[in-house]
Amino acid sequence: MVSNGPKRVAILVSGGGSNMVKLVESMTGDHPARAVLVGSNDHGAGGLKRAEEMGVPTFAVDHRPFGKDRAAFEAELIRHLDAARPDILCLAGFMRILTPTFINHYAGRMLNIHPSLLPKYKGLHTHARALEAGDSEAGCTVHEVTAELDDGPILGQARVPVVPDDTPETLAARVLAEEHKLYPAMLRKFAEAL
Ligand code: GAR
Repeated sequence: MVSNGPKRVAILVSGGGSNMVKLVESMTGDHPARAVLVGSNDHGAGGLKRAEEMGVPTFAVDHRPFGKDRAAFEAELIRHLDAARPDILCLAGFMRILTPTFINHYAGRMLNIHPSLLPKYKGLHTHARALEAGDSEAGCTVHEVTAELDDGPILGQARVPVVPDDTPETLAARVLAEEHKLYPAMLRKFAEAL
């Protein structure tokens, strides 16, 4: 059941969480959603501290003690997430592969941002791969999460040029600046339609 009033948004991060910060900052005023929880697979993730500073509750479930038992790790994630009754789950630099069981649990309400123009460059090292291929443009994609990795209906993309002497790092920075605009815009649209 979808919440009456503002949609409740949980966000999962693994790293610094710059996309998470932009999402949280966007959900104010007449925005149709509010951030209710930020979680991570790493207690030391910089994103957790940044969320706390913004007054958003956080949790972490370290994936390492679970070893290969993804189901048990995900059961713990779900336990924390569902206690906050999220209507929407945003992956924002969450670097664990999720099983179909987890994905089905949040079917139709889970979004991801990926740093490439999907369907190009699923997986890791997207910027290096775009440079190696000699692409003249790169970008990012917000999509609904389905059981296939970096697949699912595309909600929006943003493009940037590749410039001479780009390195994976300079290209990543140019793409990240677009991610910070694209993800909040797509979340807003998604929350309005839910
Ligand atoms: C972002 O570039 C995001 O697109 C990417 O990780 C970075 C996280 O940065 N996500 C993936 O590669 C997912 N496969 P952030 O922690 O500063 O938002």
